[in-house]
Amino acid sequence: MARILLYTGKGGTGKTSVAAATALLCADRGYRTIVLSTDIAHSLADALDRPLGAEPTQIESNLWGQEPEVFHNIEKYWGTIQRYVVELFSWRGLDEVMAEEMSVLPGMDELASLLWIADHHDHGQYDVIVVDAAPTGETLRLLSMPEAAHWWVERIAPIGRRMSRIGGSLLERMIGVPLPDEQVFDAAEDLLHRLEHMHDLLADGDRTSVRLVLNLERVAIREAQRSFTYFHLYGYPTDLIVANRVLPAGVGEYFQGWRDTQREYGPEVREAFAPVPVRSVPFFDKEVVGIDRLRELGRALFGDGDPTELFYSGRPYSVARENGSYVVSLELPFLSRDEIELSRNQDELVLQVGSWRRNLVLPRALVDAPTEGARMEDGTLKIRFAAPERGKAATTRSGGSRHAH
Ligand SMILES: Nc1ncnc2c1ncn2[C@@H]1O[C@H](COP(=O)(O)OP(=O)(O)OP(=O)(O)O)[C@@H](O)[C@H]1O
Ligand SMILES: [Mg+2]
Repeated sequence: MARILLYTGKGGTGKTSVAAATALLCADRGYRTIVLSTDIAHSLADALDRPLGAEPTQIESNLWGQEPEVFHNIEKYWGTIQRYVVELFSWRGLDEVMAEEMSVLPGMDELASLLWIADHHDHGQYDVIVVDAAPTGETLRLLSMPEAAHWWVERIAPIGRRMSRIGGSLLERMIGVPLPDEQVFDAAEDLLHRLEHMHDLLADGDRTSVRLVLNLERVAIREAQRSFTYFHLYGYPTDLIVANRVLPAGVGEYFQGWRDTQREYGPEVREAFAPVPVRSVPFFDKEVVGIDRLRELGRALFGDGDPTELFYSGRPYSVARENGSYVVSLELPFLSRDEIELSRNQDELVLQVGSWRRNLVLPRALVDAPTEGARMEDGTLKIRFAAPERGKAATTRSGGSRHAH
């Protein structure tokens, strides 16, 4: 069973460097390791200072690298569907070349890159698959797609298939659009099943760890917190937060202000992501380029430890849908409901237990959803949210909670 380590985080925080360093240390330990970038703007080859291609290239013993290439991927995974889209566009009067360009739907290319993960996993030639993913926003959006895909496979595909089978040409004349043929449906279904498979792999906590790279800066921390909530919403296991570019002692007077700020954020970050551990990597005095420097970064992060270790397993909190409303569950085994004070502050849920405080940045779907109530169930605090579209005023069923909504 291959271990999948996926690094994501805000742009420029050090995802590529940390991913490459992790892969290198894994290879050093004897694991057959591949590091691949699913970010469209590849920089893996630059970080490793080795040429890479659309297919895996061996870099060191036990280490392979890959920068999937857009059109190669699309041909591989979307070929038939893309041809249908081209047909549709050129029927609309767009010339072939334009139609071809247009048929690359946003996100398609990156999604196809992500599908490589499942391919490598299924072929079993690697022990560890390290992913240098795109910045958080896009990765998250794509990761959530399989759920939508599932819906499509279950509901839309059979209808469309039946439609194209019964008098496709008649229908075409009526609605005036070329209908996709069986092959297109087959390809779409196959693709969606792959996406589902990928989703299952990425959501498997024994196999996959999504790791967040951040810098000790307000915006990066905030974005990481939101991503963290999203990972839980979609069930992607997170086992490590990497605080990169942490200024060490002796940076001199000029950088002392930055260092002080970082030192203030340190405990805040630990608290925000607890119980998921946070590890720091120092700001090196040079760019982290090439095998030797990356190894140095890897050592700073993992010491003599094994990067494939599961640094945390469990779900600190989860978000689930129950009868049309959302329920956020937090494991708080040693507490009773009246010890917990709950309040809302815009997009944040604030929990206070004595002097212990926890801020949960809510997923966007819940920002406008009023809190309906909270109760303890077998050591789990369950907070219920009304459906946002109903726009109900916040009502509280259980005592002790107040709303600053
Ligand atoms: N700990 C560090 N100390 C010094 N320099 C670093 C450190 N980590 C990364 N860098 C440097 O910072 C730059 C950005 O790092 P990197 O490319 O890994 O970030 P990224 O998150 O992948 O960026 P992007 O979002 O653009 O893909 C690179 O020049 C890299 O060498
Ligand atoms: Mg990068």
